[in-house]
Amino acid sequence: MSQSGLMWIEKYRPKTLEDVVNQKEPVEGIKALLRTPSTMPHLLLSGPPGTGKSTVALCIARQLMGEHFRNLVLELNASDERGIGVVRERIKGFSQVIQSTPSGVQFGLVILDESDEMTKDAQTALRRIMETSSRTCRFILICNYQSGIIEPIQSRCSVFRFRYLEEKDAAEYLTRICKAENVDADPKAIARIYEMSGGDLRGAINYLQVAAIRSEGGKLDLPTVNKVLPAAENELIRDMLLLALQGDFIKSRDVMYELMGKHGLSGREIVRGANREASRIPDLSNEKRVDVIRALGECDFRLTQGANEDIQISAMLAQLSLTGRK
Ligand SMILES: Nc1ncnc2c1ncn2[C@@H]1O[C@H](COP(=O)(O)OP(=O)(O)OP(=O)(O)O)[C@@H](O)[C@H]1O
Ligand SMILES: [Mg+2]
Repeated sequence: MSQSGLMWIEKYRPKTLEDVVNQKEPVEGIKALLRTPSTMPHLLLSGPPGTGKSTVALCIARQLMGEHFRNLVLELNASDERGIGVVRERIKGFSQVIQSTPSGVQFGLVILDESDEMTKDAQTALRRIMETSSRTCRFILICNYQSGIIEPIQSRCSVFRFRYLEEKDAAEYLTRICKAENVDADPKAIARIYEMSGGDLRGAINYLQVAAIRSEGGKLDLPTVNKVLPAAENELIRDMLLLALQGDFIKSRDVMYELMGKHGLSGREIVRGANREASRIPDLSNEKRVDVIRALGECDFRLTQGANEDIQISAMLAQLSLTGRK
């Protein structure tokens, strides 16, 4: 595929740690570790989606192994055959192919994305592999929730936390992409894209690309952005919350089914949207607002544990309808 046909999230994915936007804390910490690559520990990169974790893992791999890093890096994510046996076999393979790398390291890298979605049993097996293979490989574990990783693994890793990007940093980056793509973007349009993304830079870049395709004569303005953003979904999420808080559980659950069925939103997306909308509901007492946030937090946690989505969100709406009647 030609460079211009690439998705922008890939085209503009930083190749070196220098180019990663913000995330100063983890990036500086990792740079320090990479000064003596041979003593690099296992790493655990944790944080919300679209904030640069996978990107940073690949930057580390490139810095350690050079441009041909693919041979010495095993990349797996939750959708792969995650049989822990695969990891074990590939690590054995590493000890046979290890060659001189630009940084002089004598190990292979295993990048395990979405590692918080591995079962506890698999994590226990992984822990053992990490111990027995420490001579031939290092692990970079990536997760959204550090709490989803078993304690013995956490304690074997240097942990680095990523945060949602702030508006200033994200807007600067989006503006830079616009320049490179010859798109003349109104700062208001960029601000709106950031607002929708909630600090998820992948989301923001994707919205930007879709909006840019729709823009006419290379001008990207607010109305064009509004056309492509899923504003209707946000309004529905707000309706769902308001109906629940008015005590109308049945109607609010109908809206939930509409969001899942017609709009294809996942449970996590609904909870994330609800969390954003909850802070915007006017005229809500502090006490009720706390109840809402708590209910959302509990629901989000259960969903990360693999609970049934519509049962959990229904339960949350039921609870909100009681809160609303207080
Ligand atoms: N801090 C950042 N600096 C520069 N680009 C970023 C940053 N964070 C995200 N991006 C952009 O968003 C895309 C997705 O980022 P990345 O894959 O690193 O996210 P992630 O944190 O691994 O998310 P997930 O948890 O969903 O896997 C990248 O290709 C890049 O274009
Ligand atoms: Mg990732």
